[in-house]
Amino acid sequence: MYELLALLSDGTFHSGERLGEVLGVSRSAVWKRLLLLEESTGLRIHKVRGKGYRLEQSLILLDGGRLKRDLPYPVMVLAEVDSTNAEALRHLAANKVDEPLLFVAEQQAAGRGRRGRSWVSPYGVNLYFSLLLPVADSSRLEGLSLLVGLAVRRGLVACGYPDVELKWPNDLLLSGGKVAGILLELAGDPADSCHVVVGVGINVNMRGSQAGIDQSWSSLVGSVVQPVDRNLILIAVMRSMHELLSAGVAGRFSVCRAEWEAAHAWQGRAVCLSTGPQSISGVVLGVDDRGALRLMCEGEERVYSGGELSLRLSDDS
Ligand code: BTN
Repeated sequence: MYELLALLSDGTFHSGERLGEVLGVSRSAVWKRLLLLEESTGLRIHKVRGKGYRLEQSLILLDGGRLKRDLPYPVMVLAEVDSTNAEALRHLAANKVDEPLLFVAEQQAAGRGRRGRSWVSPYGVNLYFSLLLPVADSSRLEGLSLLVGLAVRRGLVACGYPDVELKWPNDLLLSGGKVAGILLELAGDPADSCHVVVGVGINVNMRGSQAGIDQSWSSLVGSVVQPVDRNLILIAVMRSMHELLSAGVAGRFSVCRAEWEAAHAWQGRAVCLSTGPQSISGVVLGVDDRGALRLMCEGEERVYSGGELSLRLSDDS
């Protein structure tokens, strides 16, 4: 079925006869596979009498061979999965994991976001990946989610997106909309040796109105017609991540603090911080050496940290 998708990925018309020849099956078998493909991927395939079949949008699929060769970590490339974070945790439960391992998928049926949200993950459109990392010393977890955001930004800047900004704690914004999100999940006892799953979703080729996203979002492709090659983006981002994590910076966020603040979209802005039922108003001063948010509230500086916090601009900002 995925061989058929690769043949259609250029977005041009292909006759059923030709597809059947290449795949070595009958035209009716091609038809059945097309229906299955539509059902399992959610992709729309146009069928025009006399012309054949074409994908509604051309796609650049993940290239397993290239990723295995050019990524700095071993990688598992999956066609579909519930969530790459969940897959990484299942892998950990069934195996001894001493080295980092990356999971990337074409599609997630149940992508998870922060604070119990879901992450919209259509087939072949965006990037969904999780790095499973052994953590020998829990002090290395401090500031990690902000470091990951910085690594993703560095990778995107290297690919020609210099305007990507950070939003505390670990969102990435482009043209004011969320272009990437990060979800860290811990497995094991942080006081002892443990593992962390670093899950990253990057909106790469998503266009138009996308059902199910209840916040302002953007995508790297913008208004460009040709799809962005997700393989290139993943390789650049993982190289930055590898560079940052192996430079002994993990656990020493202070080294990158100035760079992080310089890229912070809401530095100096009036914001509201939601801590569940409570909302705190203040002006963003920056972050401290552990990656906690520094806010000026009613004339005094206060510091906040925690994965369940979320920030928005004040209405009068
Ligand atoms: C957020 O809410 O901002 C975090 C989104 C994280 C989404 C990524 S996609 C890959 C990985 N697998 C998941 O299920 N979630 C993360």
